[in-house]
Amino acid sequence: MSRSYFIHTFGCQMNESDSQRMAEALASAGWVPTAAPDRADLVLVNTCSIREKAEDKLYSALGRYRLLKAQRGTRIGVAGCVAQQEKDKLLDRAPFVDFVLGPDHVEKVPQLVETGGVETDFLDTEHYLFPRADPETSRGRATAFVTAMKGCDNVCSFCVVPYTRGREVSRPYAEIVQEVASLIAVGVREVTLIGQNVNSYAGGCSFADLIQRVAAVPGLLRIRFTTSHPMDLSRDLVRCFSDVPQLMPHFHLPVQHGADTVLGRMRRKYTIAEYEERIAALPPRVALTSDIICGFPGESEDEHRQNVEFLRRTPYDNLFSFVYSSRPHTGAMLKLGEWGEVPRPTAIRRLEEVQSLQMARTLRRHRDRIGETVEVLVEEAGFGRARENWTVHFEGDASVGDLVRVRVDSASLVALRGAQVEIVDKAPRREQPPKRRLTVVSA
Ligand code: SAH
Ligand code: SF4
Ligand code: F3S
Repeated sequence: MSRSYFIHTFGCQMNESDSQRMAEALASAGWVPTAAPDRADLVLVNTCSIREKAEDKLYSALGRYRLLKAQRGTRIGVAGCVAQQEKDKLLDRAPFVDFVLGPDHVEKVPQLVETGGVETDFLDTEHYLFPRADPETSRGRATAFVTAMKGCDNVCSFCVVPYTRGREVSRPYAEIVQEVASLIAVGVREVTLIGQNVNSYAGGCSFADLIQRVAAVPGLLRIRFTTSHPMDLSRDLVRCFSDVPQLMPHFHLPVQHGADTVLGRMRRKYTIAEYEERIAALPPRVALTSDIICGFPGESEDEHRQNVEFLRRTPYDNLFSFVYSSRPHTGAMLKLGEWGEVPRPTAIRRLEEVQSLQMARTLRRHRDRIGETVEVLVEEAGFGRARENWTVHFEGDASVGDLVRVRVDSASLVALRGAQVEIVDKAPRREQPPKRRLTVVSA
């Protein structure tokens, strides 16, 4: 009888994609997915350590899985960024864990289940081979992630990613183009090129060139990419938003803070004036989204006011904002004594101010869409995304992969709702049905 696995995924798109690759590696070694951890022979937790809370989630999940191990001998593996950060120390804190693997070793899961142990050395940049996606896993889906690069060479003083993901390595463009073509052949219509710093891509051509090459793959309807650093925003990339019809008008360009003094301490390498100049060059129809950190060490009331003023004048479509969380090995952690910790209640008050400002604006934006017609790529029955990445729920009979026009009737903070007006482009019918589904659960 085949053995079954359950993967619990935390964190960003990089982790979602790594979970997919781990599922594929397990499937090729004869494992089958299960949606219920209490029926699994293997539970794999793919972890995130971007903020303390993300790390706490690992330990509370492990507490639950530990009981399964006691009851039925379930094997437990920990992958992802906490695994990379803690290495064998993780086994001291959670000795019931059977194996630990860093993001460079996702394809070794089937061996590690057998042998146990810890695999967290980074591979050399020159010898790094990107795991290849099995397109069959995406059969029957409208959209897929495609890895463009891994790692991060920046040194933002709040961020643990360079430590957990290692140096930047770009994937050769021919491999990316080939993977995109193989995904289209199984019915995928949209790809999102991913990397922690995707616009610093250098896999034999520039990132703007990569977008052009991917757009030239016959049959691809939509391209998205994430995440970008403002320093690496080239004029050519800005031009792609006008020149490449497949590139969707949404740009996630995290600013992190609206005061130059804070940006300096964060080591973000740009000023607000430079950031504003760059976004001013974008075509106005591009929906711009961003990330903000409140309560960064030493953030004064005046710096917070500058942040709020910046946010008031910058028409972000949406914003992800966080209270600063001190991370191991980071520059800001080392300087905490010198810069001074912002008391948590103050940081939370500032976060709430930022969030209420943005929530009112996002809601207004969404409500302004009422009566308009938006173009939606159907990801599930009655659900998909507009070109600007807005979430849309609709009444209608369109199938997964169809491109439809939806008239918006109502709007909330998180989604637009409406009715299908017409199918603009039907998903090509594939002869083969989906072969197998690999369960990946996110939280
Ligand atoms: N590579 C992306 C960021 C990825 S992490 C970039 O450079 O923009 C996603 C977001 O988490 C960051 O943009 C930042 O806003 C937030 N973040 C990262 N480290 C954090 C920390 N220590 N505390 C709070 N938020 C953090
Ligand atoms: Fe972290 Fe900065 Fe790299 Fe983004 S660019 S992953 S915030 S170090
Ligand atoms: Fe988290 Fe690692 Fe992604 S820290 S945000 S899973 S790169």
